Amino acid sequence: MHQWDVPGRVNLIGEHLDYNGGPVLPLAIDRSLTLKARSREDGIVNVWSDAPGTGKASFATSVRPGEVEGWAAYAAGTIWALAEAGHPVPGADLVIESRLPSGAGLSSSAALTCGIAAALDRIQGLGLDRTELALIGQRAESGFVGAPVGLMDQLAVLEGRAGHAVLIDTAATPPTTQLVPVTWEEDGLVLAVIATGAHHALADGEYAARREECERAAAELGLDHLARAGLDATVLLTDETLKARTRHVLTETARVKAAISAISRRAWPQLGTILTASHASLRDDFQVSCPELDVAVEAALEAGALGARMTGGGFGGSAIALVAPHQVQAVRERVEARYAAQDWARPETFVVHAADGAHPV
Ligand code: GLA
Repeated sequence: MHQWDVPGRVNLIGEHLDYNGGPVLPLAIDRSLTLKARSREDGIVNVWSDAPGTGKASFATSVRPGEVEGWAAYAAGTIWALAEAGHPVPGADLVIESRLPSGAGLSSSAALTCGIAAALDRIQGLGLDRTELALIGQRAESGFVGAPVGLMDQLAVLEGRAGHAVLIDTAATPPTTQLVPVTWEEDGLVLAVIATGAHHALADGEYAARREECERAAAELGLDHLARAGLDATVLLTDETLKARTRHVLTETARVKAAISAISRRAWPQLGTILTASHASLRDDFQVSCPELDVAVEAALEAGALGARMTGGGFGGSAIALVAPHQVQAVRERVEARYAAQDWARPETFVVHAADGAHPV
């Protein structure tokens, strides 16, 4: 039995840029799932999961898209993507123990797909590198589950390192990664996550719609990637929606660069301002926020956070806030009070630390 520890991630900055050829800066977090894996030779895959709403699933190693749905589709999709890439698996027993809330926008799905791919790679001696494993995870989601995601989450959960964020250049083929030391804790700050508990059903369709709008804007501008657009792009485009989406991609790309500079100078108030500006752009120009995320960000700022923003795809999930440890409780109370006033379920606020990517234990 092989055992792996696979973290979730938060994205510090660079939202909705990974399918636009822009830079993104996620970090793996110290909330993870444990995956136990064992080979079988009978063409069957069994998966047991302890997460709420899951259980046991079984399918053949020859599984095809559409044959498994729900939570188990991520596991089935990984087996299918491995086979598609020329690495059929003879069978497996997989046991998942998760301390990563699902639907919280912390990439429990990438942890699952990439964890399974990494464990089976090791068991079968496939010799895949981390980029190849990330591509398998992405293919499982896009080709089997039906979510046309970028490569950020997969690379973050595989390549993360304690004390570091992972700078990913998604313009490169394949994308390249570079570790960036993050030292706010040494300077008396922490990164808090506010898991809103909200999950809006339109999330998947809206994600695909944003991606399609960005592709349309890039095509109108004659570019491969929208992140390559110049400042004139918003003048050249005539459609107001495409203009707004492009404005987000341009300004967010600039914010990632400014954030990296602020991190290297330990200019934390400046980093905070950049995070909050990112949220405004995602809310107003890219339109992927929701009332629960906006209130979480507002409440965190009211309670003294240096900056806050939604993280991940949006329409629910989590926000992050850069805050002094002694103010975390104030953030928690302020967010809970604002949610209670709206009759929303109680959100969860907790501190995360940059952690190592998927590794055998
Ligand atoms: C989701 C996707 C990522 C990325 C983010 C938005 O997390 O899985 O590929 O596009 O949304 O930045």
